[in-house]
Amino acid sequence: MQFAAPAYVQHRRLIDWVAQVAALTQPARIHWVDGSDEENAQLLAQMVAASTLVKLNPEKRPDSYAAFSDPSDVARVEDRTFVCAERREDAGPNNNWTAPAEMRQTLNGLFEGCMRGRTMYVIPFSMGPLGSHIAHVGIEITDSPYVVASMRVMTRMGRAVYEVLGSDGEFVPCVHSVGAPLAEGQADVAWPCNKDTKYIVHFPETREIWSYGSGYGGNALLGKKCFALRIASTMGRDQGWLAEHMLILGVENPQGEKSYVAAAFPSACGKTNFAMLIPPAAYQGWKVTTVGDDIAWIKPGADGRLYAINPENGYFGVAPGTSEKSNPNAMAMLKRNVIFTNVALTDDGDVWWEGMSKEPPAHLIDWQRQDWTPECGRKAAHPNARFTVSAEQCPSLDAAWNDPAGVPISAFIFGGRRSSTVPLVFEAASWDEGVYMAATMGSETTAAAMGAQGQTRRDPFAMLPFCGYHMGDYFDHWLKMGERVAMPPRIFCVNWFRVDEAGKFLWPGFGENMRVLEWMIGRVQGKAGGRETLLGWMPEYADLDWQGLAEMNPAQFAKLMSLDFEAWRAELGSHAEWLAKLADRLPPALETKRTQLSEALAR
Ligand code: OXD
Ligand code: MN
Repeated sequence: MQFAAPAYVQHRRLIDWVAQVAALTQPARIHWVDGSDEENAQLLAQMVAASTLVKLNPEKRPDSYAAFSDPSDVARVEDRTFVCAERREDAGPNNNWTAPAEMRQTLNGLFEGCMRGRTMYVIPFSMGPLGSHIAHVGIEITDSPYVVASMRVMTRMGRAVYEVLGSDGEFVPCVHSVGAPLAEGQADVAWPCNKDTKYIVHFPETREIWSYGSGYGGNALLGKKCFALRIASTMGRDQGWLAEHMLILGVENPQGEKSYVAAAFPSACGKTNFAMLIPPAAYQGWKVTTVGDDIAWIKPGADGRLYAINPENGYFGVAPGTSEKSNPNAMAMLKRNVIFTNVALTDDGDVWWEGMSKEPPAHLIDWQRQDWTPECGRKAAHPNARFTVSAEQCPSLDAAWNDPAGVPISAFIFGGRRSSTVPLVFEAASWDEGVYMAATMGSETTAAAMGAQGQTRRDPFAMLPFCGYHMGDYFDHWLKMGERVAMPPRIFCVNWFRVDEAGKFLWPGFGENMRVLEWMIGRVQGKAGGRETLLGWMPEYADLDWQGLAEMNPAQFAKLMSLDFEAWRAELGSHAEWLAKLADRLPPALETKRTQLSEALAR
């Protein structure tokens, strides 16, 4: 296919690569995306005409749209996600692997002619502020206008990226197709995808991403999990930095002292709520500000500290459960200019999802575009329904969120969903002990998410589905990063999900997390007390501020913090089973830590 790149694209290698992909995929036309408002308006109008988007009532939700995906295409597909390193052992047991040559052959077959009848879009994007030394550039080729509109929100996308790239800059090539070519005269569907075949493929050595068959979220918006985590984690290993599945928030006390922390939680543990926390009324003068809600890129600074940016430009958050009570900042941020996917529609042209209000509306159109009433027994919104919204709309956005230098990180926080065993909070006694705790952290699967209730799935650093190389090497990289910087952040572990004998949550809720955050910041500043335990430093009841929270008495707190040695012996047994899976690359320091803990528990 003949094509001319716009004059502002001066990068020969990039132009040649686009030509190669066009020759393979055979689109009807090529659109070099410039990121302008006019272009965006035209794409949105085109998607409304094609029924991919429904425009919401402008009086209720101005400039907002709803998309409804195919029921076969509603979430990330971990079993179809591959890391094709040259050697299987480099991908590790934590990744699906196929030999690169074999995978390339499969992909060549799938991509040949896969964009027939469609437009191929070329999207230039920067993960992180344009030109920041922590940022990196990607180019995504896609045949989905929904992906173009979403990437415009989720990344710094548009023409200016070519200025950063110049004629020879580095970029990560990302190729995406919904895998649904159109024959001559064939009518399109509202959500094209390939119901039978999906591949999300990463080649870490050549830093390439190829995604086929899905138009949804992390499968298709390739800047997010594919680039910013899987490929970037391998770049970080090679270049001495960290790409993490972490939110970043700022905390400012009434004296104006500000600290930043980065926190890793597995999916569905209230990450966005924590990132946008509003301090309880008793915390007059305290401010929590949001830098990011999902991903952090962290590089060493000249002053011996670690500096983080949020490589994303927006939030692709789970809608169900988001309410005025759980996250008022998110609700304010979603008032206008949003692309919703798989939520339900109200009769007056607005959106609704489970948990938004106590009383559901009497009638809705559900995410599968069917009539819905509260009695019908089906969910109105898909449990993984999402909002896509620009970070600039977040009321708690941190003033430095766009700072190319990043923000200095004082503490890392790791948390999972555990109904027992793991206390509310503790500080690891050292960097290496913190790495051990993060390497063995786990989350109980919720019935909705993955079947059997109460099974603990180990999700080290909340990175299990996102680490682009062998998890054992990743632990080693973390241990080394602690030595590489003069002032590594402190490491804390939290568990908001412990329950009592009756199965009731012991911790009163997300809004109160500020109390734990204050203790952690106090520890970093040398102000907060604590006692040394087997696991590290733990607060006593009196070390936390309980103003305005009468229900938290010392007995309740003791339950939240209790260390059950019997349970911990079993926990360490389960750590051993998990670590054995990584034995071929497990850093010896972690096995030593486990032995030390076991011995201490036996005493
Ligand atoms: C996400 C996830 O969508 O972690 O952010 O699954
Ligand atoms: Mn995530």
